[in-house]
Amino acid sequence: MNFRVLAGMPSSETEMVVAARFEELAGADLVSSRLTSTDLINAAGEYSDLDVVLVHRELGPAPVFDTIRDLSHRHPQLAILLVSPSMDPDTFTAAMEAGARGVVPADSGATELETRVAKAAEWSRTLRRHLESASLELPASGVRGRIVTLSGAKGGVGTTTCTVHLAMAAARRDRLVCLVDLDLQAGDLPSYLNLQHRRSITDLVDAADDISPGMLAETLYVDPRGPHVLLAPSTASAARTSPPGPPAAS
Ligand SMILES: Nc1ncnc2c1ncn2[C@@H]1O[C@H](COP(=O)(O)OP(=O)(O)OP(=O)(O)O)[C@@H](O)[C@H]1O
Ligand SMILES: [Mg+2]
Repeated sequence: MNFRVLAGMPSSETEMVVAARFEELAGADLVSSRLTSTDLINAAGEYSDLDVVLVHRELGPAPVFDTIRDLSHRHPQLAILLVSPSMDPDTFTAAMEAGARGVVPADSGATELETRVAKAAEWSRTLRRHLESASLELPASGVRGRIVTLSGAKGGVGTTTCTVHLAMAAARRDRLVCLVDLDLQAGDLPSYLNLQHRRSITDLVDAADDISPGMLAETLYVDPRGPHVLLAPSTASAARTSPPGPPAAS
């Protein structure tokens, strides 16, 4: 996909010049341009998948470095390039400090513009990929997992059967699943999953506040179809050593 660029230019003349330059570029599209700093900031929020924002040194009414700072705070993933008629060190330093990725000469030809836009856009896309994968690890809500509890109103109504099928269906859809048998008196997951495992929830209760990742890995059984399984104690007497808890739920 071509790089997507938004521009803030101080006049219709400069706007036309930049639009004509972009006509010559094969790998970048000028999505839109704006004539004031306020309109530019609003537009940056309206267009999805923008890569680069060009901000002309003379764009007003807000001071240009305030505009850059505002844009970079609101959209840290966007690469902002200051388009400047002068390339002095003070302009460069002020642009960098405000959050720009670089300074492009106002009289750049198509080739230079294309190179600078491409480099800035690649940075933006790399950053967005990292942000997206980080947000997969921890969703914006901050919630890493969800607990679904199934409990039968009375015995023998199919609670364990439903729970096993639900866990398998979720695992098939690439969800991370931990199937926990809280029927401490008569949990019978091993017979449903055809498994033998000597650890159970009792081992974790014994460790109480001191549960390490290693201990958890040892206690959980990993079903070849995906779900991790935390079993109820194999005997009812073992369950009695556990402190009182909620009613059985499997
Ligand atoms: N939809 C269904 N149709 C027919 N039989 C079923 C269905 N669901 C479960 N069963 C059968 O009913 C019996 C009880 O099922 P299950 O063990 O899942 O119930 P439960 O509510 O967990 O029982 P318990 O109170 O013993 O924990 C099992 O033999 C199971 O194969
Ligand atoms: Mg059951």
